[in-house]
Amino acid sequence: MIISDLLNTGSKILKNNKIKTHRIDSEIILSDILKLQREKIIIDSDKEVSKKIVNHFNKLITRRSTSEPLAYILKNKEFWSKNFFVNRNTLIPRPETELLCDTIIKVLKNKQSHILDIGTGTGCILLSILSEIKKAKGIGVDISKKAIQVAKKNSHNLKLNKRAKFFTRSLNDVYNYKFDLIVSNPPYIKTSDIKNLSDDVRKFEPKIALDGGKDGLDVIKKVIYKSKTILKKLGLLALEIGYGQHYKVSQILKKQGFREELLVKDNRNNIRCILARF
Ligand SMILES: C[S@@+](CC[C@H](N)C(=O)[O-])C[C@H]1O[C@@H](n2cnc3c(N)ncnc32)[C@H](O)[C@@H]1O
Repeated sequence: MIISDLLNTGSKILKNNKIKTHRIDSEIILSDILKLQREKIIIDSDKEVSKKIVNHFNKLITRRSTSEPLAYILKNKEFWSKNFFVNRNTLIPRPETELLCDTIIKVLKNKQSHILDIGTGTGCILLSILSEIKKAKGIGVDISKKAIQVAKKNSHNLKLNKRAKFFTRSLNDVYNYKFDLIVSNPPYIKTSDIKNLSDDVRKFEPKIALDGGKDGLDVIKKVIYKSKTILKKLGLLALEIGYGQHYKVSQILKKQGFREELLVKDNRNNIRCILARF
């Protein structure tokens, strides 16, 4: 079979399964299998591919047609211009989380800092910060052992394992350390809203990474309470929050003695990150 026929077949199957990005997904899957840039496979679209490639492609197209996210199929997601290994034990890093990293990197200004990332998942937040702030070191914790295995793999791949350590641990069990910065992108979706999420998220991403309890604030509250006991004096807490959660989180922060220092909005003008000093 030639490349163009294979791409058309893949795209058609995905379209029939209501995958909106059917054409580009078909191209991305084939370029990943052939280890060639997308542009290259389009230019070489009259080239023949082996039966083995066709079979492999068909398998991945079948997975994508069930709405499985491309990141899980390809085991990779680009974040902060780096490749992060991902699997179904970890949330797929999101662009809005890059806002959080960007803000922290600007605020820390290459200062020697000891950082804690609560609910580290792939390790994307901590590792991206450490890649920019060479004097910083940090710990990532996650309640999921399998997520921590992924974070360690990414730390190794990015050659940051000297400055980043990862532990399977609930945030309740972090003590004996004091940090300059605590960062967290906790699960913040209301339990009752999970059923309304798109198929790719609801069916494939780990519940424990999404479910923030009845009001979506269960883990956010725990992170704030915990941070009071393990932040250094004038330490910073950096949180990613969900749509419409700013008012409530702001009230909790104030009540616990934090002073909001910076709010970051996403491209739809929603406040999605809070930096607060203790
Ligand atoms: C929204 S995901 C964020 C993952 C990653 N930091 C990111 O930004 O892509 C939340 C993470 O928190 C972890 N988590 C949930 N409850 C936790 C708890 N009580 N203690 C530690 N980690 C927890 C989940 O396993 C999940 O990996």
